[in-house]
Amino acid sequence: MHIGFIGTGNMGTILIESFIKSGVLSPSSIFATNRTMEKLNRLKAKYPGLKTGTCRDVAREANVLFLCVKPKDYRGVIDYIRQDLTHEKLIISITSPVGPELLDRILPANKTARIIPSITNSVLQGVTLLSFGSRLSSDDKKYLMSLMSSISTPIEIDESVTRISSDMVSCGPAFFSFLMQRYIDSAVEETSICEDEATRMMTSMIIGLGRLLEEGGFTLSELQAKVCVPGGVTGIGLNVIDKETDTVFLNTIRATQEKFQQDLLEVEESFQDQKNPYH
Ligand SMILES: NC(=O)c1ccc[n+]([C@@H]2O[C@H](COP(=O)([O-])OP(=O)(O)OC[C@H]3O[C@@H](n4cnc5c(N)ncnc54)[C@H](OP(=O)(O)O)[C@@H]3O)[C@@H](O)[C@H]2O)c1
Repeated sequence: MHIGFIGTGNMGTILIESFIKSGVLSPSSIFATNRTMEKLNRLKAKYPGLKTGTCRDVAREANVLFLCVKPKDYRGVIDYIRQDLTHEKLIISITSPVGPELLDRILPANKTARIIPSITNSVLQGVTLLSFGSRLSSDDKKYLMSLMSSISTPIEIDESVTRISSDMVSCGPAFFSFLMQRYIDSAVEETSICEDEATRMMTSMIIGLGRLLEEGGFTLSELQAKVCVPGGVTGIGLNVIDKETDTVFLNTIRATQEKFQQDLLEVEESFQDQKNPYH
């Protein structure tokens, strides 16, 4: 059984390394390719057992194939390997605008799924978002759930919440590290603390907060109430944050939804001559 990866950029590499780190896949069960050789050679040097080849080699050998390229590259890759995608192969998109409905339509002979990963999977944490194509059996779904649970908490999502779920699990690490950075920058600007010290404190606090939420049995609002003693400093700070962030996330969600609609349109246009799967 081979698991294939076309594209070993950020996410392809994170998935390969996380599966190996978790022990669920051995390097020799992985078959990978990339457009330019450098990233592939780096992986091969780190995991000598890992198999590499052309896109068509990977498509031919893999039983399960992760397409880890940007949305605009899906069409080219699929056209190139289509002849090698025999019906028993399971083809996986890792990008939000290439969903199971589209995959089912453009790959009418194959089993398909979309699995949206997160950079947090590299430490075997965080969520992966799963959406299944119509031809997957319950055993296929169980297999994918089990594979993804080795590196994450897998959650099956409804198509209607694809973007907002991806915002939270996939963009979330960038959004929240940006907020942390902004807090640190303000602390350095306004007080005598240095950046290194503030970063160490902030990072350690966030790790502790994560553990507390995981183990401490607090809801988010219970946690705020616990820290916010009457007449104390936390309440003063929270009042400011409440006012200043009023529309931040609403506007963020609106902007990402708008970009998602554009991406969906572009991907749909790139496959527009394949509206009828029997053409
Ligand atoms: N980054 C994230 O946190 C994240 C999270 C969830 C989902 N995703 C999704 O993951 C996908 C990839 O994102 P990324 O950040 O990993 O992008 P990336 O770093 O640019 O990786 C894409 C890789 O695909 C390779 N590629 C492009 N066309 C190819 C072809 N025809 N044959 C073989 N390889 C090809 C590129 O090769 P070159 O080396 O030649 O450029 C590149 O290494 C995107 O669709 C994104 O939506 C990303």
